Amino acid sequence: MSVLPRAGKGKVTVPELLQRKFGAVDSKDISRTAFARGLAGEFGSDAGLASDADAKKIVCLTAYDYPTARLLDEAGVDVLLVGDSLSMVMLGYESTLPVTIEEMLLLTRAVKRGVKRALVVADMPYGSYHSDTAEAVKNAVRFVKEAGAEAVKVEGGERRLELIARLTEAEIPVMGHVGLTPQSVNALGGFRVQGKTVDAAEQVLRDARAVEAAGAFAVVLEAMPRELAAQITRDLRIPTIGIGAGPDCDGQILVFHDLVGLTFGKTPKFARRYANVSEMISKAAREYCEDVRGGTFPSDGESYHAAQMAKEEKEESVNKDGDW
Ligand code: KIV
Repeated sequence: MSVLPRAGKGKVTVPELLQRKFGAVDSKDISRTAFARGLAGEFGSDAGLASDADAKKIVCLTAYDYPTARLLDEAGVDVLLVGDSLSMVMLGYESTLPVTIEEMLLLTRAVKRGVKRALVVADMPYGSYHSDTAEAVKNAVRFVKEAGAEAVKVEGGERRLELIARLTEAEIPVMGHVGLTPQSVNALGGFRVQGKTVDAAEQVLRDARAVEAAGAFAVVLEAMPRELAAQITRDLRIPTIGIGAGPDCDGQILVFHDLVGLTFGKTPKFARRYANVSEMISKAAREYCEDVRGGTFPSDGESYHAAQMAKEEKEESVNKDGDW
């Protein structure tokens, strides 16, 4: 018997996300992208555009564990990305490069167990899709088969055309990622805003178009001028998900740990902080230290008592769920 929460009404799916941008996507055939349908003339210039009611912004966050995934899902987040940013925010590495496929699989399974409604997307870690395409497809299949991911994300634009097409053919929905791609940190010389010159902006636009043409169902636009992100959003038929790319994208994503203030050091200016969980954890831990050292924890009320336990042991109505 499954212990997974059952998908509830309003489950977020890939066709539903496409539909938020263009209302006329055929949900039975997600392998034909909105782009391909556009090329085939199935959309006019504006035909098929979602109505205002359908064109809801897509709300995405990263999640890396069961309780967080559960809370974010219950709060109404549409897409939970098990991002390879977990390498930095969960595992303490300096970049996203060291995290392994096994580590990503473990945490994707945990997230999946907490989710009923949101679409679960797993990031393909560095090295898992950089050698040959057959190996990359095998690795992506593991995220679907072993961890329950409903889509995978890969970084890169034009150079991922073949890979994205192959994954899509293998029935794996793909989210692209262009602009600042953190797995290219060494090649880029740091985490830098992309598309700042006309030539660089044109390259980002070509990358986004390539991702769409290859069959991706959405694309993350990271760290670029808002004007460029707005232009890409107008240009593409698949939804754009922005991070440091301004307000005109079809959706937004943030790293959960930035959102709740559970990171160390400087955060980028787009990472709006909605809570200060670091402070809450530090305060709780300091108080606990004080209470243990001062002998006020645990109290008598927080202790089990021999006489009471013996009495309960004899009674038939003993709590079958345990002694908590
Ligand atoms: O790994 C991650 O968290 C990401 C998001 C920033 C898009 O790729």
